[in-house]
Amino acid sequence: MFNLILFGPPGSGKGTQSERLISQFGLKHLSTGDLLRSELSRQTPLGVEAKSFMDKGMLVPDEVVIGMISSALDSNPEANGFLFDGFPRTEAQAEALDKLLKLKQTEISLVLSLIVTEEELVKRLLGRGKTSGRSDDVDENIIRARITEYHKKTSAVADYYKKFDKVVEIKGEGTVDEIFDSLSAEIEKRMYIGQ
Ligand code: AP5
Repeated sequence: MFNLILFGPPGSGKGTQSERLISQFGLKHLSTGDLLRSELSRQTPLGVEAKSFMDKGMLVPDEVVIGMISSALDSNPEANGFLFDGFPRTEAQAEALDKLLKLKQTEISLVLSLIVTEEELVKRLLGRGKTSGRSDDVDENIIRARITEYHKKTSAVADYYKKFDKVVEIKGEGTVDEIFDSLSAEIEKRMYIGQ
């Protein structure tokens, strides 16, 4: 199994690149943001609870997202590997993910970390906010709160995986094609060794 984390701040291109990478490498896409938005649109109790955090640009509590990922892993026993997008976002989530994967006799193979300047992130997200319908994209204060949460709680996740020598940083500015080529090259270097 090849398990990839696509890592980076809000607006760094994780969702955009994930779509292409899953079709190129046959991975199952697990995006906690998409899972939460699906709960929200169905007005489930979990979705209603998550909304109060998402609308402020804050992280949803660890136990909520860990539970969602655990169910998603169990629901996909045939997967050749997973692409985690927007998860893990705290050290506690990273430790929980390691444990869940260990139960399935597998582990994280690689963490690709997209590097994008803050001004570019804000520009991209405000641009998307004009059409996306995402309430967390329309207000610059909420966008900046998401970026602050990333620095406070999420950037440490890269340090966690650096201890295991699993992180490669990728320039996340340029065309979508250029970035996809850089990401793909790193996956190809490792995918066939690990399998
Ligand atoms: P989530 O849905 O994960 O959002 P995010 O991390 O804020 O990421 P985005 O989807 O905004 O950005 P992205 O990096 O995927 O970039 P994208 O490709 O879309 O999380 C939302 C909320 O849910 C969180 O704030 C939190 O409350 C909660 N949540 C989710 N996971 C959680 C977790 N694990 N724990 C706790 N809470 C959690 O691109 C962005 C824009 O840029 C698009 O318009 C795109 O077209 C454009 N773009 C992409 N690439 C380029 C490029 N190369 N050049 C120019 N524009 C580009």
